[in-house]
Amino acid sequence: MNRRTAVIAVVLAALSAPLAGGPSSHVAWTLDTVKLVRGGDSKKGQTLHGDCSGCHGETGDTDTPDVPNLAGQERFYIFKQLQDYKSKSRASSMMSESAAPLSDRDMADLAAFYAAQKPSRGAGSGRRPDAAISALVALGDGTRLIPACDACHGRRGEGNPGFYGMPGLRNQKEVDLSYQLTTFRSGERGNDVYRVMRDISKKLTDDEIASLAAYYAGAEKKPATAAAQEKK
Ligand code: HEC
Ligand code: HEC
Repeated sequence: MNRRTAVIAVVLAALSAPLAGGPSSHVAWTLDTVKLVRGGDSKKGQTLHGDCSGCHGETGDTDTPDVPNLAGQERFYIFKQLQDYKSKSRASSMMSESAAPLSDRDMADLAAFYAAQKPSRGAGSGRRPDAAISALVALGDGTRLIPACDACHGRRGEGNPGFYGMPGLRNQKEVDLSYQLTTFRSGERGNDVYRVMRDISKKLTDDEIASLAAYYAGAEKKPATAAAQEKK
């Protein structure tokens, strides 16, 4: 098996992991749902955002460490998270309360608004991951059946619009990224379809979670090896 085939095989293995318990999300990407989200009205979303800006800031981004940034995030991902909070597939008392009164269309409008905002964390921390973390991000780890983060989240953590509900990671704060990975690992966050992130995070050590969070919080800069290659 060459490297690419190996990566794809590991991704498929992760995707076909059996479901345990109830569904992790009630969102199904039917044609109607996709159309609804694509047709979101960002102007209407901006008005609705008035109820959210106290915590999430004017444009969806805030310095508060444990409140995630929303500006520039994939719209399908935002829509799915709001649905999941409303149905309590993703647990957060704060967010379930905020999502409860929203209609499907409201969620699509809000998602359009956030997706259209400019992310605040353009510069990145410039922190370069060590070789082991660079390899995990770009290639995964076949010995532990961990697929490459890049395969799903994009080469620079930019997300993947071709894969409904795939979040970008590069505009997030380090604290939030490590919190999300830790709660996937403990199962406290369980709204990832096919357990994709719960299964991956279970194989990560505390140190790896910390380094991955630091890497993505500064992911505007590519891993050292890739950056060096591009200069040549
Ligand atoms: C009282 C503060 C507060 C308010 C008000 C609030 N949020 Fe949140 N929001 C949070 C916190 C804290 C989280 C992270 C919760 C978690 O870890 O699941 C969050 C998470 C989210 C997420 C998930 C982001 C991700 O990266 O997964 C979305 C989307 C979101 N909020 C949208 C909204 C919208 C839309 C509104 C208004 C209708 C709103 N929020 C109102 C505090 C708030
Ligand atoms: C097979 C595809 C896949 C791979 C590989 C993958 N992820 Fe994910 N990841 C997802 C999906 C899908 C979600 C969104 C889950 C949901 O709907 O809540 C996600 C969510 C996340 C989140 C939460 C984002 C947020 O805003 O709350 C983090 C952090 C994350 N992944 C980090 C990683 C890291 C680090 C790696 C590599 C070790 C990785 N992922 C590998 C598919 C993947």
